[in-house]
Amino acid sequence: MSTKSALAQQLAVVAGFENPRAKLEQYRTPPELAATLIHTADLQGDIEDRIVIDLGTGTGMLALGAALRGPSVVVGLDLDPEPLRTARENHRKVGSASDVAWVRADATEPPLCPGGPTTVVMNPPFGAQAGNEHADRGFLATAADIADVSYSIHNADSEGFVRSFAADEGGDVTHAFRAEFELPRQFEFHEADSAGIEAEVFRIEWR
Ligand SMILES: C[S@@+](CC[C@H](N)C(=O)[O-])C[C@H]1O[C@@H](n2cnc3c(N)ncnc32)[C@H](O)[C@@H]1O
Repeated sequence: MSTKSALAQQLAVVAGFENPRAKLEQYRTPPELAATLIHTADLQGDIEDRIVIDLGTGTGMLALGAALRGPSVVVGLDLDPEPLRTARENHRKVGSASDVAWVRADATEPPLCPGGPTTVVMNPPFGAQAGNEHADRGFLATAADIADVSYSIHNADSEGFVRSFAADEGGDVTHAFRAEFELPRQFEFHEADSAGIEAEVFRIEWR
């Protein structure tokens, strides 16, 4: 297994959104955070030889991180076809030998029925801008349906919500950690050149 920092370096070539849509909360997860999530999952035995599904894959950051760690198959799913085109180019740039299926679909009603041990990874929309708090709820519900383990990034102070949602859906939060990252200015309503985002990452085992 390569180191976490080597993985972050490999993911640094992953291009972000050309025309980001605020409504879909389109921003690229920084390579360092993606590498931390995937490396942690790999150490837990949650990537190698497993089906890995990235819900809301965007330009493919998490899917490609997983593809570099020996999964049986990777699926990157997004509602918007434009970033999926970039994800295909990013796959070539990253140079992973693993196949990735890029699927255009709604993550809350995915056309997927995985036939084997499955890990979901995701950085779903938080719903903060749209006033639609916990837009991540539908993504977690999908993880509960199709995966036996998931890793998800949420906004700060989501732990109570995530733990109670998981408990209601037959899940256990086994790991939780905080992460901070810089989001460059990309939407008109962003006032500063970059903003510090506080996030929380959860590993959930689903029964
Ligand atoms: C915060 S971005 C994360 C992108 C990418 N996973 C990454 O880590 O760089 C959220 C992504 O979710 C996608 N998305 C939003 N709502 C969706 C839905 N209902 N179904 C599928 N994808 C959705 C957006 O298009 C966007 O690509």
